[in-house]
Amino acid sequence: MKSFPDGFLWGTAASAYQIEGAVDEDGRGKSVWDTFAHTPGRILNGDTGDVACDHYHRYEEDVALLKRLGVGAYRFSVAWPRVLPEGTGAVNEPGLAFYDRLVDALLAAGIEPWCCLHHWDMPQAIEDRGGWRSRDCAQWFADYAAVVVERLHDRVKRYGTFNEPNVVPWVGYAMGVHAPGRRSRAETLAAMHHINLAHGRTVAAIRAIDPALEVGSIISKGPIAPALDDAAHREAAALLDVIWRRVMCDPLWLGRYPAPFAEEIAPLVEDGDMALISAPLDYFGLNHYNRSYAAPDPENPLGVTEAAPPAGTSLTSMGWEIDPAAFGEQLRDVRDRYGNPPVYVTENGAAFPDATIVDGRVQDDDRIAFLQGYIGAMHDAIQDGCDVRGYFVWSFLDNFEWSLGYDLTFGLTSVTPGSLERVPKASFDWMRGTIAANALA
Ligand code: GCO
Repeated sequence: MKSFPDGFLWGTAASAYQIEGAVDEDGRGKSVWDTFAHTPGRILNGDTGDVACDHYHRYEEDVALLKRLGVGAYRFSVAWPRVLPEGTGAVNEPGLAFYDRLVDALLAAGIEPWCCLHHWDMPQAIEDRGGWRSRDCAQWFADYAAVVVERLHDRVKRYGTFNEPNVVPWVGYAMGVHAPGRRSRAETLAAMHHINLAHGRTVAAIRAIDPALEVGSIISKGPIAPALDDAAHREAAALLDVIWRRVMCDPLWLGRYPAPFAEEIAPLVEDGDMALISAPLDYFGLNHYNRSYAAPDPENPLGVTEAAPPAGTSLTSMGWEIDPAAFGEQLRDVRDRYGNPPVYVTENGAAFPDATIVDGRVQDDDRIAFLQGYIGAMHDAIQDGCDVRGYFVWSFLDNFEWSLGYDLTFGLTSVTPGSLERVPKASFDWMRGTIAANALA
C-alpha cells in the first residue's frame, strides 16, 4: 500500500472553453478559440466548443459528480471574454455571476475552488489589438485578472495565473496548430515575454488585493528526448527542452531567460520586468503527460518540432508515450532546478479508446493502469524528497480536446453525445477509492 501524506490534496481539473458551452449566452464575447474552432479545417470533425459539455447550465450536476468522486479541490478556469467581452472596459456582470454560482456550489459541496485565470481563451477583441504580440496585453490581462480576484477572493484562496503558458507561444505562434494559428519566430518570442510579463503583473495585482491569497503558474512539462540517436536530433532535443521546459519557467523561478533565447528576447525586456516576473510564488503547478521527442525542422520558425516516439513505445490515444518514469524524472527536475518548491500536479491523465462497455459504462482498465502507474511514480518521488502536495486528474469528464475535438476522451466520466448525460467510467470508481484511502492499493 502506497499511502500519501495526511492533507495531500486530491482534485480534478477542467477549463472554460472545453466544458462550458453557452458561447453566446449572457453577454459573453468571442474568444480566439471560437474563431479558431469555426475556421474550416482547424478542428477534427469540424467540432467546436459552442455547446461542449453544457457545463454553464449543468454545473450543479457536475459539482454533485465531483462530490461523489470525493475530491478535495476542483480547478476551473475563468473565460476572460465572459467577464470582459471586449477584453478591457465594461465588466459583463452576468458572466462574472456564473463564476460566483460555480464557486458557491463548490463550497457548499465541501470542495475547494482553485481558479485558473487563463486557459487560452483570449477575447478575440484583444487578439485583434495584437494579442500576446503586444506588450500592452500584459496589463490588459492583469486588469482582467484583478476584476476576477476582487470578486472571488472572499471565497477563492488559490489562483493560477496561466494554464500552460508554454503552449500558447510554442503551439499557437510557432507550430500554428492552436489559436491564433500563427507561425512567426518574432511573434513567438514576443508572446513568450509578454505572457511572462502578464504573469508578473497579475501576481502583483493579486498580492495588492490580499497578500494572503496563494498564487502560482501552471506549466506543462515532461522530459525531452531525441527522436533519433544522432547529433542533429540531440541538438533539436536540447533546443526543444529550452522552449518547452525553461523559457516560461526559468524567468519565474530563477529570474532570468535561458540561452539561446535570452539574447534575442533582451530587447523586449524593460526595466522592472524581470523583478515582476520573478516575484515569489506559493506553488509550482505542474501538468504532466509524457516525455516528448524532438526532431530538427527547418520549416518551424524555431527550427525544431515534436516527433513521434520510437516504434514500439506504449502510447495513449493521443500518441503520447506511457512511461511513469518520465513523470518521476520531471518531478525531480523541478525539485533540483527550482529549489524544491511546493508542487501541485495540476493535470495528469490520458486519452484511451474507451471502446469497452460493461453494464452500460466504459470499462477503462487502460486508464486505471495509467493512473496507478503515474500516481505510484509520484509517490516514489515524494519518498525521494519532492515536495508534492496534491494531484489533480485531467479530467473529471470527457470534453473538447482542442484541435482534436471530441474524438479524444480523457475523462473519468463519459458524456453521451446528444443528451450530454454524464456516465462515470470504471476509472471514476477506482479514483474515488484511491482518494478515499489517500493511498494506492
Ligand atoms: C493541456 C491542457 C488541457 C488538455 C489536456 C489534454 O494540458 O493541454 O491544459 O486543456 O485538454 O492536457 O491534452
